[in-house]
Amino acid sequence: MGKSVNCLHLLSLNFLLLFSNYSFAKEGMWLPNLLGHVNEAEMKDLGMKISADDIYSINHTSLKDAVVQFGGGCTGELISSQSLLLTNHHCGFSQIQSLSTLEKNYIKDGYWAKSFEEELPCPGLTATFIIEIRNVSEQILPFISDTMSEMKRQSVIKLITDNLEKAAISGTHYKAFTKSFYQGNEFYLFITEVFTDIRFVGVAPKAIGNFGSDTDNWMWPRHTGDFSLFRIYAGKDNHPADYSKENKPFSPRYFLPINISGIKEGDFAMIMGFPGKTNEYLPAEGLEMVYSQTNADKVRIREQRLKIWKEAMGTNDTIQLNYSAKYRTLANYYKKWSLENQNLRKHESILKRKGFDKQFLEWTLADSMRRAEFGNLLNDFSEIYSKGKVFGHALDYTSESLMGIELLNYVLSFKKLIELRRNIHADEKEVEVQLEKTKKMVNGFFKSYSKSTDKKVCFSMLKLSDENMSDSLRPDILVRIKNDFSGDFMKYTEELYSKTIFLKQEKLLSMLNNFGSVEIKKLTKDPAWKLAINIQDFQKEKIQPSYNAFVQGSAKLLRKYMEGILQMDTVKQFYPDANSTLRVTYGSIQGMNPRDGVIYKWQTNLDGLIEKGNLNDDDFQVPEKLKELYATRNFGQYESNGSVPLAFLTSTQTTGGNSGSPVLNDKGELIGTSFDRASEGVMSDYVFDEKLTRTISLDIRFTLFIIEKLGGADRLIQEMKIIKDK
Ligand code: ARG
Ligand code: ASP
Repeated sequence: MGKSVNCLHLLSLNFLLLFSNYSFAKEGMWLPNLLGHVNEAEMKDLGMKISADDIYSINHTSLKDAVVQFGGGCTGELISSQSLLLTNHHCGFSQIQSLSTLEKNYIKDGYWAKSFEEELPCPGLTATFIIEIRNVSEQILPFISDTMSEMKRQSVIKLITDNLEKAAISGTHYKAFTKSFYQGNEFYLFITEVFTDIRFVGVAPKAIGNFGSDTDNWMWPRHTGDFSLFRIYAGKDNHPADYSKENKPFSPRYFLPINISGIKEGDFAMIMGFPGKTNEYLPAEGLEMVYSQTNADKVRIREQRLKIWKEAMGTNDTIQLNYSAKYRTLANYYKKWSLENQNLRKHESILKRKGFDKQFLEWTLADSMRRAEFGNLLNDFSEIYSKGKVFGHALDYTSESLMGIELLNYVLSFKKLIELRRNIHADEKEVEVQLEKTKKMVNGFFKSYSKSTDKKVCFSMLKLSDENMSDSLRPDILVRIKNDFSGDFMKYTEELYSKTIFLKQEKLLSMLNNFGSVEIKKLTKDPAWKLAINIQDFQKEKIQPSYNAFVQGSAKLLRKYMEGILQMDTVKQFYPDANSTLRVTYGSIQGMNPRDGVIYKWQTNLDGLIEKGNLNDDDFQVPEKLKELYATRNFGQYESNGSVPLAFLTSTQTTGGNSGSPVLNDKGELIGTSFDRASEGVMSDYVFDEKLTRTISLDIRFTLFIIEKLGGADRLIQEMKIIKDK
């Protein structure tokens, strides 16, 4: 008897161990207004103590009232009654950079506004709240059908949603938009409140905010203090208003209390944010195109551009300064796509998707109605992908390779001015404005341009495109260059860069000061103009129409495929692909076992940052002040086990756009800010693997430690509602 009890005990222990290793991982990016249906019970099972209604409600304040879309591509959360906004360093980066000068370099040295007056306006930056989400599928679906052309379908949808949106916000200062979900099988309308006076409040030096830089990007273990602070300002009525000195900090409906009591593996965690784009429901054919063509093309191209830039940056400080931000942006997705392909290969994802497609086919063939509706779908996919791939490849090479030549993008930005000046009916004032804009653009361009570097990129991209674009689908100028220069792209490039007026700043500016038909003639005869326009025309005329037809055609098939998937398994709850709308993802704090013999702990500490510090590597510089705080153990209330907790892993599903998202505990209190994913699971934008996909977040205690101890910004700490149990 005793023995069997022991056995049982052991069994359940084993089971528990297994369980604690893996099963807390949770796939899904859920619409916050639908959590009450199924997710709530599961979230409570995982440890959540609040209700779905506390997360999203239109009747009372809820967590969603403290979460914003920050600019167009990140997330932010409010952490004080005066709308102090927390997001990532890499989300605020470009704003902070444009506020910086050589003397006041906030990126390099950090910045902490000491008063509201020192909070700096950020022109163009927005923060968007979600006021309400409405399912409007029933108002749309009866009016569209499978037999409609995609164009017709789009125009019917637009007509209906325009009216719905107008009605939804009439008499308010809100905005509205509608988005399709499940590849067009459902529709939701979003009522939003968009603030336009956002000010920069504080940031740590780049050495902390971007510690580890590209070396550590997408990697665990991580020690990047990836956060920055902003504030939302409103007009007198607490409504959105454009920047004005008179504006006051917005008084929000809700802000997040911060819990610094400590976290541990297995704790419930939930992330709210604005994930940009996922493609979880692609047939094998689609996944194959991503893997063997789209990702492969772009990785090959970016590799060359990055190599040239890196070499140039290494030998010249000015180039280093001017190209580091551009380099970072390019390197981020270069690394992501490479990792994505590694993951897809390692886990045989395409083969597995083929297995799923086989099941799908069997399901469609098992019933005559289904056969009629879905039976041909996979064949249709094959056909459309085999045609579309050709245009996708040409597009990759024109946009990523040829248009990766800085000179060409710059030249194309003269187009508007030239068109206006040529138009005899154009408004003189408008022409003047455009002229001024162009002059500014020219000066801006030369500030951060390295001709010798771009020349190398140009040669390399022409050659690469020549080698990889099919004979029947390539810009004809490539053929002409080849003929005229006997295949010598180097000679052509040399001539191009020495002859073009566009790279002679003084001459160009004096032409702009007296800009008439003679000048237009000169510019439009210029070899750089000819090259740029030829490539642009090729893209517009030879690729875009066919590529768009492919995208529309495959959208229709994907919609049907999704409809089939939803019918095939009516028990499973499917989440819609990310589309930059507010989502909730949940799971737990959890380490991982990325490969045989390797265990990733769920947490890193300040010790690890100090350990990684390396004077000889730009990516791993540790500010003196931080070393001092560490040496004197000056950690304040943020100390835990003799250090300051820095980053942690959760088994949640996030993607680009989630950066800056609040990580919340079982009570909905803020414990961290999400900023990345671990390399082993970034294929989660196509295939989610519960064992391998982890979100990387910054522990809120590290954020507060830096604000208080390094920044000395007590006034910000005092605004917050900080909870420390015990
Ligand atoms: N990988 C993260 C994301 O996609 C962080 C990127 C910023 N950091 C960098 N080193 N480029 O946004
Ligand atoms: N770093 C990403 C972002 O900027 C997040 C991710 O892709 O996991 O949103």
